[in-house]
Amino acid sequence: MFPEGFLWGAASAAYQVEGAVDEDGRGVSVWDTFTARPGVVRDGDTGRVACDHYHRYREDVALLRDLGVGAYRFSVAWPRVVPAGEVNPAGLDFYDRLVDELVGAGIAPAVTLFHWDLPQHLEDAGGWLDRDTPHRFAEYAAVVAERLGDRVTLWMPLNEPVVVTMFGYALGSHAPGRTLGFEALPTVHHQLLGHGLAVQALRAAGCSGIGIANNHAAVSPASDDPADVDAADSYRTLVNWLFSDPILRGEYPVPELAAAMPGPVAADLKVISEPLDFYGVNYYQPTVVGAPTGKEVQVEGALLPAGLPFEPREIDAPKTDFGWPIVPSGLRDTVLMFTERYGDDLPPVYITESGCSFHDPDPVDGRVPDQARVDYHESHLAALAEAIAAGADVRGYFAWSATDNFEWAAGYAERFGLVHIDYRTQVRTPKDSYHWYRDYIRANS
Ligand code: GAL
Repeated sequence: MFPEGFLWGAASAAYQVEGAVDEDGRGVSVWDTFTARPGVVRDGDTGRVACDHYHRYREDVALLRDLGVGAYRFSVAWPRVVPAGEVNPAGLDFYDRLVDELVGAGIAPAVTLFHWDLPQHLEDAGGWLDRDTPHRFAEYAAVVAERLGDRVTLWMPLNEPVVVTMFGYALGSHAPGRTLGFEALPTVHHQLLGHGLAVQALRAAGCSGIGIANNHAAVSPASDDPADVDAADSYRTLVNWLFSDPILRGEYPVPELAAAMPGPVAADLKVISEPLDFYGVNYYQPTVVGAPTGKEVQVEGALLPAGLPFEPREIDAPKTDFGWPIVPSGLRDTVLMFTERYGDDLPPVYITESGCSFHDPDPVDGRVPDQARVDYHESHLAALAEAIAAGADVRGYFAWSATDNFEWAAGYAERFGLVHIDYRTQVRTPKDSYHWYRDYIRANS
């Protein structure tokens, strides 16, 4: 069903799990600043303590080892490593210890360099709206590569630039909380340029296994009415191709988008399209869109601006407790949409995230029954196997997430983990889905 050597993994991100925000010289990130604003995160939650992974990483790695994953995807916090322009050796030391612990447990480290926690001083200077930021990012990438490059097997410079642009800069429901609408488009180009420059820096340091973790979703029209079909095309272009064509084809999908980008775009696209060793897809849910009807639409709690050429529609499917539709075939369709569009230009694919939030019960006698999460992963893996059977070259699957964690604007209310976290005591309890995944990995390795 899955090819030989298929990589089974689990994923996390620094701000969501580490805590220890003021320790060992870590600088302030945009998420520290954002979460300090009243009313922006559910229940006023912040990542100050999170899962205390910074201090409990050994316990977390032991859980991953017993789970039997071949790889652990985590992110390095830029503000820990280069807090204010200078390298912070103590910050690098933490990741050095984590990587050693993983390697010692037989787990391949898979590193994301930017999972949304931009150093605040860079945001103050313009953040991803500013052309300097991609260059600072590449310098930071080189620092991490030099220290960890001998042991890291997969690299993802960026995680989900679409979310940073859309929720961080256009709609304002994520850090840094800007509400620029389409004026946020330069942040697409600068993140992609940062990706390309970081790829170059990693290659110069001798690293391989370089890709990205990009969020993608199959998009279908609400009906075969041409207005709905056009709306779906626009949406697909904006959320998918805008973030993949520059990387995989060295061009923007439509001239209007290229024209909206700052700087020497043609020259930058050469950097952005540096060849990759793999292409990472984060998948959660497909989207159905129709022609605009003028009605107000909220996406993840953020109001979409008026005048968009599309309108997301409710999907008729069972939902997770986060309200996200559960459509396993969407994972198959998303992967096949990529193989069809890019053909031989598509490197091997990894599913760098897939998962679901359910409001699990508290552990009783060391057990957390979460059959809905088991069903989620099982059905999505079956759909992924269909994509592979149809010819897609998929090499791995990372469950989001290893443990429950800080779910951005939703705080700790949403639980995506295979391992339950009691945030009062920091006690970890593997859920039924953890035991199921362990058995599934064994049966499919
Ligand atoms: C992704 C993101 C993760 C996690 C997940 C669940 O967009 O990369 O950090 O939060 O969604 O919402």
